Amino acid sequence: MTTNPSSPSSFSPPSSPSPSSSLSSPSPLSSLFGPVITGLTPEQLPEYIPNDAPVIAIVDEQVQEWFSHYFPAIPFITIQAAETAKTLETVEKLTLALLSEEADRTFFLLGVGGGIVCDITGFLASTYMRGIRFGFIPTTLLAQVDAALGGKNGVNVGGYKNITGTFTQPEFVLCTTDVLATLPERVFNAGMSEVIKAALIADASLFEFIERHTPEIVNRKEPALGEIIRRAAQIKLDIVARDEKEKGERRKLNLGHTLGHAIERSVKNIMHGEAVSIGLAYAARFSHRQGWLTEADVFRITALLERFRLPVDSIIPVEDLQETMMKDKKKSGVLLHYIALTAIGKAVEVDVNLPDLNFLHP
Ligand SMILES: NC(=O)c1ccc[n+]([C@@H]2O[C@H](COP(=O)([O-])OP(=O)(O)OC[C@H]3O[C@@H](n4cnc5c(N)ncnc54)[C@H](O)[C@@H]3O)[C@@H](O)[C@H]2O)c1
Repeated sequence: MTTNPSSPSSFSPPSSPSPSSSLSSPSPLSSLFGPVITGLTPEQLPEYIPNDAPVIAIVDEQVQEWFSHYFPAIPFITIQAAETAKTLETVEKLTLALLSEEADRTFFLLGVGGGIVCDITGFLASTYMRGIRFGFIPTTLLAQVDAALGGKNGVNVGGYKNITGTFTQPEFVLCTTDVLATLPERVFNAGMSEVIKAALIADASLFEFIERHTPEIVNRKEPALGEIIRRAAQIKLDIVARDEKEKGERRKLNLGHTLGHAIERSVKNIMHGEAVSIGLAYAARFSHRQGWLTEADVFRITALLERFRLPVDSIIPVEDLQETMMKDKKKSGVLLHYIALTAIGKAVEVDVNLPDLNFLHP
């Protein structure tokens, strides 16, 4: 973790506008909470940063140069994005760093990074001095369509994912596809897992769009890239608007996550989106066994995930994940709120008796 009052930058953006910059235009999404704007160019981002409060940014070290190029005047603290660092200890260190910057309750915290930075920044801002203002510039595909949206934040404790956190909405979320150009292929693909999840939950036509435009999306080409971000993000915002505190419908966003979280806890070096991909494939197979999805649907789902090089099989027996799933937050008593599909584009919640692991057998 390093604190940088305002650093000179050696970052050089492309001399001619990138395809994403030239083709996109700001697209505000419908949001019950703060504005969520996709399709921005990086040059447009600073216009949205508050000028009525001192701003400090928490920045993923991988985008530090990009950030300091476009925001030369904003002091920032860099952190390394690692699931093992998404802890209370990191929050404590950041709290001390904010104190040493003399940050008081008038300060605004800007989270700039992937899901890990957004989750940590949101939690820090919602607890520092009992809560300060904050907003996000998500820099991974996964964070733009999922982690930065909806107000959930938190850290892992004892290896249990996001077990300590709050529901606190950011004041804004600003998305530019420009920053996604530097994402490693594996990280980009992991984000596709959450895009496909959103389509599976609520939008069969988005699923078909991804099937038809896979080559452009793999190459991060506009307008396909901007289109899937806008549509997947809107699906999440709409669900959160109807059920902010996850009393019912919001649980659908956990499609693939019950098994996914258990896999993340048990398998080293697997990304969140990759673990979710395995969870989506098992949810599809489960749904087929219930007679809801056809075999052809299951094939379409696993084939699409695999086109983004995402895994669809657990490398450890799912039986071994039972105890971990029991500790997942999405259970009540011995019943697990499991999310399944009645069709591509239609998710349902079913209460499953966890000890009966038949529901996960392929
Ligand atoms: N709060 C929520 O609602 C929610 C929803 C989904 C996921 N999450 C959380 O999000 C996390 C996963 O997020 P993620 O997939 O974005 O992973 P991440 O934050 O770990 O980022 C992945 C990698 O990409 C790097 N990176 C970030 N932006 C980059 C860029 N523009 N160019 C190059 N490299 C870049 C990071 O340094 C990191 O190495 C998990 O902890 C998950 O629990 C939270």
